[in-house]
Amino acid sequence: MTAPGMPPQARMMQMITGYWVTQIVHAVADLKLADHLADGPLTGAEIAELIGVDAGTTTRLLRACAAQGLVTYDSGKFLSTPLLETLREGAPGSFRDIAIVHGSPGHWLSWGRFPDAVRAGEPQTGAALGSDIWTYFQANPREWERFSSSMSELTDGLSREIGDLLDTTGLTTAVDVGGANGALLHPLLRANPELRGVVFDLPTVEPTAVAEAEKAGLADRCTFAGGSFFDAVPEGDLFLLKAVLHNWDDDACVEILTNCRRALRPGGRVVVVEMPLGPMGEPGFAPLLDLGMLAVNSGRERDLDHYDALLRRSGLRRVEVTPTSSPQSLIHAVAQ
Ligand SMILES: C[S@@+](CC[C@H](N)C(=O)[O-])C[C@H]1O[C@@H](n2cnc3c(N)ncnc32)[C@H](O)[C@@H]1O
Repeated sequence: MTAPGMPPQARMMQMITGYWVTQIVHAVADLKLADHLADGPLTGAEIAELIGVDAGTTTRLLRACAAQGLVTYDSGKFLSTPLLETLREGAPGSFRDIAIVHGSPGHWLSWGRFPDAVRAGEPQTGAALGSDIWTYFQANPREWERFSSSMSELTDGLSREIGDLLDTTGLTTAVDVGGANGALLHPLLRANPELRGVVFDLPTVEPTAVAEAEKAGLADRCTFAGGSFFDAVPEGDLFLLKAVLHNWDDDACVEILTNCRRALRPGGRVVVVEMPLGPMGEPGFAPLLDLGMLAVNSGRERDLDHYDALLRRSGLRRVEVTPTSSPQSLIHAVAQ
C-alpha cells in the first residue's frame, strides 16, 4: 500500500532499496553501535576508535542511520534512540541476532535467488549455499549459533506468557521437537516443577542446548536428545513444535506429526506454534514470512484449514487454538 501523500515512484524506490537498509541494520548490529552509544553521545570518530574501524566510513554509516531514525545528531555527536536500543546485545526484547542472521550468507544468498525460487517452485539454497539450509548450518556452526539465538529472540515474548497460556498440570514429559536451545521449554519447566523436558533436535545442537539448560538452572530436569524427527521422537505427553512445520512441505510435516503421534502417551497433546495465514489480501507479516520459507527452505505458512488437513493425515485432530500476544497461535491437537 502506498503511504498517504507519497508518490508511487518514491514508494517503489523505497522498496527497491529496502535491502540496503537490511545491510545497514546488519552492520549496525555487527558493530554493536547500540551498545557503544548506550552510555551517552559520541562523535563518529570516537565510535570508530572504540570499535577499531575506519572513522570516515563509520561517520557515513551514522549519517545514514540518522536519516533512517536509528540515531539522532546534535552538536557534532550521535545519540541513541529507542529504535537503536532494539539492537543492544542481550537486552530484553533485543533483535540483534535476528538483524545479523538476515544479513548473513545463509539467508542473504538464498534470498538473492528468490525469483528463481518462484519460477522453480522451490528454494534455491542448493545453488546458493551448496546444500539445504540445515546442512549448511551444520557446516557453519557460528552462523548456526547466531540463527539459534535469533530464534530465541523471536521466542522471547512468547516465553514470558507460555506458562499462563499452556496448562501442564498432571503432565510428566514435554518434548520440544526441533527445540533448538529450548527457549520455549524452559519457562514451562519453571511454571511446573513436576514437569520434565526434552529438547529434541539434530545432534550438532547438543552443546548449545545443554549450555542453555545449565544457564537456566534446569539441567536436572531438561535433557537433550539428538536425532532426526523424520526417524522418531522421544516419548512424551506434550509435544511442542514451534516454527518447525513451516520449514517443511506437507508430506514432510505429516512424517514429523505422525512420529509425534506415535510417541504420544495416552491423553497427551501436540501443540503446534505457528503464525496462521489469514484471508487472502489481509495485511500482516505472515504472507512475507511465507515467502521467507520459500526462499530459505522448502516450507510455507498455512491457514488453519491447511493445518487441520495435515493433522488429520497424521492421525491427529485439532481441539483448540490459543491466540498469543504475538501473531503466533498455539494449535492444540490430540490423537484422533
Ligand atoms: C526454525 S528452527 C525453530 C527452533 C525452535 N523451535 C524455536 O522456535 O526457537 C527449526 C529447528 O528444527 C531443527 N531441525 C531441522 N531439521 C531437523 C531434523 N531432521 N530433526 C530434528 N530437528 C531438526 C533445526 O535444527 C532447528 O533447531
